[in-house]
Amino acid sequence: MTERISIHGQWSSRLAFILAATGSAVGLGNIWKFPYITGENGGGAFVLVYLLCVLFIGIPIMMAEVLIGRRGRQSPINTMRTLAHEEHQHGIWQLIGWAGMVAGLLIISFYSVIAGWAVAYVFRTASGAFTGVTADGAASIFAGLVSDPERLLAWHTVFMAMTVVVVSRGVRSGLEKAVKILMPMLFVLLLLLVGYAMNSGKFAEGLAFLFTPDFSALTAGGVLTAMGHAFFTLSLGMGAIMVYGSYLPKNVSIAKTSVIVAIMDTLVALLAGMAIFPLVFANGLEPAAGPGLIFKTLPLAFGHMAGGTLFGTLFFLLLTFAAWTSAISLIEPAVAWLVENRGVDRAKASTVIGVIAWLLGIVTIMSFNSWAFEFTFAGEFKGSGLFDVLDILTANIMLPLGGLAMAIFAGWYMSERSTKDELNLGDGLLYRGWRFAVRFIAPLAVIIVFLQLLGVIKV
Ligand code: PFF
Repeated sequence: MTERISIHGQWSSRLAFILAATGSAVGLGNIWKFPYITGENGGGAFVLVYLLCVLFIGIPIMMAEVLIGRRGRQSPINTMRTLAHEEHQHGIWQLIGWAGMVAGLLIISFYSVIAGWAVAYVFRTASGAFTGVTADGAASIFAGLVSDPERLLAWHTVFMAMTVVVVSRGVRSGLEKAVKILMPMLFVLLLLLVGYAMNSGKFAEGLAFLFTPDFSALTAGGVLTAMGHAFFTLSLGMGAIMVYGSYLPKNVSIAKTSVIVAIMDTLVALLAGMAIFPLVFANGLEPAAGPGLIFKTLPLAFGHMAGGTLFGTLFFLLLTFAAWTSAISLIEPAVAWLVENRGVDRAKASTVIGVIAWLLGIVTIMSFNSWAFEFTFAGEFKGSGLFDVLDILTANIMLPLGGLAMAIFAGWYMSERSTKDELNLGDGLLYRGWRFAVRFIAPLAVIIVFLQLLGVIKV
């Protein structure tokens, strides 16, 4: 086979890809979502299921997604069409690309609104609003923000514009250098927060909550949320990692890079949890406080530590940045597709997608105030408003189904020769292990979790 070349360019090195993929993976999912869903689902047992999902489902599917991307070298829709054709399979497989594009748009619509909270908190913290703040004070500042649709809309607009600017220039320029510096800084600040939690929080209680599994606290819905989160946090199942894989140079090891990205992503999430829960318990807060959890707890740390205004401002700045590098990857599949199929330039394509996502974001904005309502879904998920509906639909349903389809395609419908050639692991245990995982472990795990939730089976 002659080597295909992506019209969108290529990462300059292995490191560039690792940074970009880590930039995509590490984001609000790790620092905002992981702590609050862990809090809502009882802690340790949930964390354990999430970690197992990362290991046995996430890493093999990430490898599958990257290898599909690199082999196809186009947007996920066109990559799937090309590979299905090449492997003599039905064109229906391109549905993976279409569903992923839709999932990406739905996710970016609420992701941008939440990232807007982080941007708002940069300024809040810098103004010294949290100095000496109490738990009630921090909660009411947060409530003030989310109940104000205009402010939310303004920050959502700012964040979406930032995303469109980078994507319109091509994800390669700038992204690489920025991630190289800012990711380690975020890591250091998280360590600082964990250090603060060790001294000022109920650290032992926080750790016990995170790492002592209590399976009686875990529901079938919790298991699905843990699995869905493994996909969400690793950016899997919608084509983001596939499109980044399509820019990966041929000689880079897919297995090694995937493992590195997964480890870094998991570390960031665990550090965030270790920083937050000790503070939650020390301040008598509710672990199940929902999406506002970090915005109500972290200001307590920044409000009371030496240099808190500076560190706090920096923290929310880095959180914004982490969200930014994820948001970019959420719209890249759609933008790449528009460029390939409609012949428009990147700037126009990014703007069109940005405007659609911005409009969709209004649904999320309103669901925190005027459109708030309570609902129960499948007897397992309770939520308040369309934000939760979008979150459950994408992270818990669309991403696992997308990932399932990718695993089945790579494991059962691509020839062994193709996947072997792309992974370049030889024919030993590593390759066999991966193939077994995408053929059996990952698909069965996803299917069992779904059937269990639907009540078809009882495990
Ligand atoms: N992985 C990102 C996070 O954890 O914040 C979110 C995300 C990005 C999900 C890209 C899905 C995706 F395709």
